[in-house]
Amino acid sequence: MTTIRPRRLRGTPAMRRLTAQTHVDPAQLVMPLFVREGLTEPAPITSMPGQVQHTRDSLRRAVAGAASAGVGGVMLFGVPAVRDATGTAGCSPTGVLNTAIADVVAEVGDELVVQADLCLDEFTDHGHCGVLDARGQVDNDATLDVYRQMAVAQARAGAHLLGLSGMMDGQVAAVREALDGEGRTDVALLAYAAKYASAFYGPFRDAVESTLTGDRRTYQLDPANRREGVREAHLDVAQGADVVMVKPALGYLDVLADVAATSAVPVWAYQVSGEYAMIEAAAAHGWIDRRAAVTESVLSIRRAGADAVLTYWAVELAGWLREER
Ligand code: PBG
Repeated sequence: MTTIRPRRLRGTPAMRRLTAQTHVDPAQLVMPLFVREGLTEPAPITSMPGQVQHTRDSLRRAVAGAASAGVGGVMLFGVPAVRDATGTAGCSPTGVLNTAIADVVAEVGDELVVQADLCLDEFTDHGHCGVLDARGQVDNDATLDVYRQMAVAQARAGAHLLGLSGMMDGQVAAVREALDGEGRTDVALLAYAAKYASAFYGPFRDAVESTLTGDRRTYQLDPANRREGVREAHLDVAQGADVVMVKPALGYLDVLADVAATSAVPVWAYQVSGEYAMIEAAAAHGWIDRRAAVTESVLSIRRAGADAVLTYWAVELAGWLREER
């Protein structure tokens, strides 16, 4: 007769609650939000049902809503009216993203952590995350100079934490040095340390209306590489990253677990637009239970080792979590 019976701990809801090994708390969720220059009404994003490009006003309201839902932070992305080769609008204090940061900080102060995407792909006309050299290749070190300026502009606008998502070598050290040189030692840096060249960013490119010439394989990681993700995370910590991130999430839980096992700084994961779209699409067909699938997916990312999760369901999930309490 068997004496070892793991089922004893699964017998009642109370027993399951007491023995659960992972929890999701609203404070561990970050809501990504888009703001588009010149919009007068929020514009739905077709490939991300339920998500919109915000106007200046609707963004302020969305962030206030996120704060009252108890989420830990928001990550802001800007969609400029005009793009150019070097992404000028990203560095301008009157550019869409920097204006939005200032608006949002005026609205919520430090009730939640206001984060900004520090990358050029939303601002360049070729859609790359950096500036190009004479041969049309992304020029790493010339891009670092633009990132420094963009970082200072975002810090001046009031951002609490900058998300370095461009995957240029040395970007964390460059931005840290620029901020510290301005006396902004207070602004934290999130390194998209292990950001893979993924097909799952597709809907995001609709959201920011970016049309990419070519692909990002010379700077984002090869999905084949696990150890390289860990290496990137360690390099970013050595350069001064305050938080490191793995992205996408569900397809990269092995990398996330490896980074979480060895990182001295918090490790976050980004459940990206394509992950969102897949669950929404299946749920819209009635093929999966939407709420259960969303909840399980974020729980799985936490279980694999993420201290916090960027997810387009952050606000809705925070509401459910409060309800369940
Ligand atoms: C770069 C950036 C991207 C995403 C977040 N930051 C796009 C990319 O690298 O192609 C994708 C996020 C998502 O798909 O949800 N600015």
